[in-house]
Amino acid sequence: MGMVGPTSFWSSYTFWTGSSIAASILAVNTVPQYTIGQSIAKTATAIFFAQWLVYLIYAVLLYPRYFSPLRHLPTVKEGNHPIMGQWFAIAGEPSGEPMRRWLNTVPNDGLVRYFGMFNRERVLLTSPKALAEVLNTKNYEFQRPQFLLRGIMRILGVGLLLSEGDDHKYQRKGLTPAFAFRHIKELYPVFWSKSREMVKTIEEVELVQKKPNVEAEIGGWASRAALDIIGVGGMGQDFNSLADPNTELNKTYRSVFSPSRQAQILGLLQFFIPAWIVENLPIKRNGDIMAASKLARDTSFQLVRQKKEQMARKEQLHPDIISIALESGQFTDEKLVDNMMTFLAAGHETTASSLTWAAYMLSKHPEVQTRLRQEVHEHIPSLNNEINDTLIDGMPYLHAVCQEVLRFYSPVPVTLREAVINTSIQGHYVPKGSVIMLCPWAINRSEELWGPDAGEFNPDRWMKPGTANSGGATSNYAFLTFLHGPRGCIGQKFATAEMACLVAALVGKFEFEQTYPDEEIIIKGGITARPKNGMRLNLKVVEW
Ligand code: HEM
Repeated sequence: MGMVGPTSFWSSYTFWTGSSIAASILAVNTVPQYTIGQSIAKTATAIFFAQWLVYLIYAVLLYPRYFSPLRHLPTVKEGNHPIMGQWFAIAGEPSGEPMRRWLNTVPNDGLVRYFGMFNRERVLLTSPKALAEVLNTKNYEFQRPQFLLRGIMRILGVGLLLSEGDDHKYQRKGLTPAFAFRHIKELYPVFWSKSREMVKTIEEVELVQKKPNVEAEIGGWASRAALDIIGVGGMGQDFNSLADPNTELNKTYRSVFSPSRQAQILGLLQFFIPAWIVENLPIKRNGDIMAASKLARDTSFQLVRQKKEQMARKEQLHPDIISIALESGQFTDEKLVDNMMTFLAAGHETTASSLTWAAYMLSKHPEVQTRLRQEVHEHIPSLNNEINDTLIDGMPYLHAVCQEVLRFYSPVPVTLREAVINTSIQGHYVPKGSVIMLCPWAINRSEELWGPDAGEFNPDRWMKPGTANSGGATSNYAFLTFLHGPRGCIGQKFATAEMACLVAALVGKFEFEQTYPDEEIIIKGGITARPKNGMRLNLKVVEW
């Protein structure tokens, strides 16, 4: 049971170095004829690499096959490379896509094993019971892997997303009331006014300033609208990025929160090189991002100060999430700022992705688009009308379409956890350090959970009697888009209300179709799944 897992290898440079030097000193003094030129340095280097090679053979070839306690789990055979396992499928396909296949093709009772780079083991959860155990019952036994988070932590600080253990419990408890529906409902008018601004600006820029009916890239608009909404609704700061995406503040936020290719490479490097080295590489981005993140934090501190002054003057604060958390008195200024940064990171690209996919699905299914437009026009006679939560939530087809888009194209296709102690899932022993994969992209389209039409886009599954909240699935774990439990998305109600407003405004204002209907949509990897070349649509204004 106490088998040394290969993960410990990555943290054992010190041990290898120490033992190589000790062995080489011993060898040079006792059996110099067997050393390299009787040099301690050269011999130590040779021993270091020899040990490394032996360990590599053990960790990559022998451990997963003969020693790992996970070796009895059903294991993916497809495309198995002797050293890289299923890594080529994982790297070559959109994230979550191979897992979707394996979930349906490998017979299993809730856990499936596959291999990543250098045969590192991954455990994919496939059943509601296994998911419930990891996400709820044993939630604190499985954490987000630290090696992924260090880089982000420097930028965001330790807000809700990156906190663990008691710190997480405290922050989650303190922030939960701010995300309660009684507060979110006050934000519906904010979501609506930004949605209205989005479609009016699209009309002005794409159809008036440019010549009509040219292609409009909706992903960029979605991103700007989502940034503005999380700014106003999350912290009471209007970035005005719909009106002007090029202000200093907007450029700053975009550079911090939309990681460039170079950043992704740096992130990848951290798998191989200790994070502190990567962080200090004199690469432009390292400097840029720290400066930008400092500016973003300074701006956030300023906002907190303003809000406190307002409170001291007994003025009513804006109903944004951070103001409510501030009024609760449970957070220091620093923690409020950490959470502002966190909301920007967690609630910006995710929402932008959901609106982009909604536009895509509606353009592919014109009959759904027309039906939805009719419902929106019936309930909201004009774009200039004001709305409230009852009006938006009173449109069943709007709800159905949004849920189906979130099911079909979960903005976060895959996420992971690491066992922090030796534990078990569904009775299978899971040693400390095991990496557990949670894959909305796979679960959300599992035929076992959704029925034989799981792979079809069908909003009507949310329209049958009693299915508005389940989509007709057999378990609520079948819809994994926001995960579940104490580490599930705290912003779910915020996000779904925001999406409903954005989709209603888009479909109410425009008829649209894909500019290149035969284009194969390539999905960009990263934390959120989005079309690589954006979503190009032809728009036509409709009477509203
Ligand atoms: C469609 C939009 C969204 C989707 C699909 C989404 C999805 C998710 C998922 C899957 C997680 C869990 C990640 C993991 O454990 O690896 C998460 C966590 C989180 N989300 Fe969202 N999210 C969305 C919008 C938002 C918004 C708008 C906010 C803020 C206003 C937000 C705030 C958070 C926070 C703070 C966490 C961390 C929760 C914790 O660890 O306790 N999200 N989200």
